[in-house]
Amino acid sequence: MASAGRQRPYTLLSCGMSIDGYLSSGTTTRLLLSNDADFDRVDAVRASCDAILVGATTVRNDNPRLVVRSQQRRDERTARGLAPSPMKVTVTGRAELDARADFFTAGEAEKLVYCARPRVDDARARLGPVATVVDGGHTVEMHRLSNDLADRGVERLMVEGGGTVHTQFLTADLVDELQLVVAPVFVGDSQAPRFVRDGHFPWNPARRATLAEVRQIGDVVLLRYALSSRFEDD
Ligand SMILES: NC(=O)c1ccc[n+]([C@@H]2O[C@H](COP(=O)([O-])OP(=O)(O)OC[C@H]3O[C@@H](n4cnc5c(N)ncnc54)[C@H](OP(=O)(O)O)[C@@H]3O)[C@@H](O)[C@H]2O)c1
Repeated sequence: MASAGRQRPYTLLSCGMSIDGYLSSGTTTRLLLSNDADFDRVDAVRASCDAILVGATTVRNDNPRLVVRSQQRRDERTARGLAPSPMKVTVTGRAELDARADFFTAGEAEKLVYCARPRVDDARARLGPVATVVDGGHTVEMHRLSNDLADRGVERLMVEGGGTVHTQFLTADLVDELQLVVAPVFVGDSQAPRFVRDGHFPWNPARRATLAEVRQIGDVVLLRYALSSRFEDD
């Protein structure tokens, strides 16, 4: 993995959760937390970014496409000399990812897999034809990953889950903006994945995060938090 050359990307963490703080149902049934208007807002945020990152469990469980859906937004990106959708990035220790997953097959954008060193050869054998596999070091560390993305030209990174990945970005103080959507449902299953796992977060009673915006979008609410001095209000 390359060393830090430029400033790490502006990092925006976008997530939907239930009233009781869960990311999904904890069963194989996919839980839709957003509504159409919010999906469209997220699409616009995706279109504004250079790369979208999700954890390997999200790739396996949700099989997300992670492409810009709106043709107009895709055309606007193309007119700016960009790929229609941002680069896709995932991180794995075990390298047990299916090359036929939509993450790898949907869209023309570059796909990057940061893999812990012990399984890099397996990852390259399995995913080499569909992605660039990056040796992420003995354990993939998010500061190094962010700096490596910057060296690859990523200036604006969107982190889209799940909780394991959120926790690492937040506890490492790598997030400039948090966009948290609260959906009007309860999950009520402590086995389901939560927005974050245990950790030491930089924001606490002695250092409160800055709430920058509250926006109702139909039956969900968007909370935007400024988590660094780089926060870009729009
Ligand atoms: N509501 C939302 O907005 C939203 C968004 C996204 C996801 N989700 C939900 O979130 C759930 C998944 O969350 P999750 O916390 O279980 O998993 P996750 O964060 O999606 O992925 C965790 C996996 O990523 C890999 N990984 C993470 N950090 C790593 C590191 N430093 N080094 C190497 N590998 C690393 C590991 O993969 P390996 O196991 O391959 O080693 C790990 O098991 C899914 O059920 C999904 O539905 C919800």
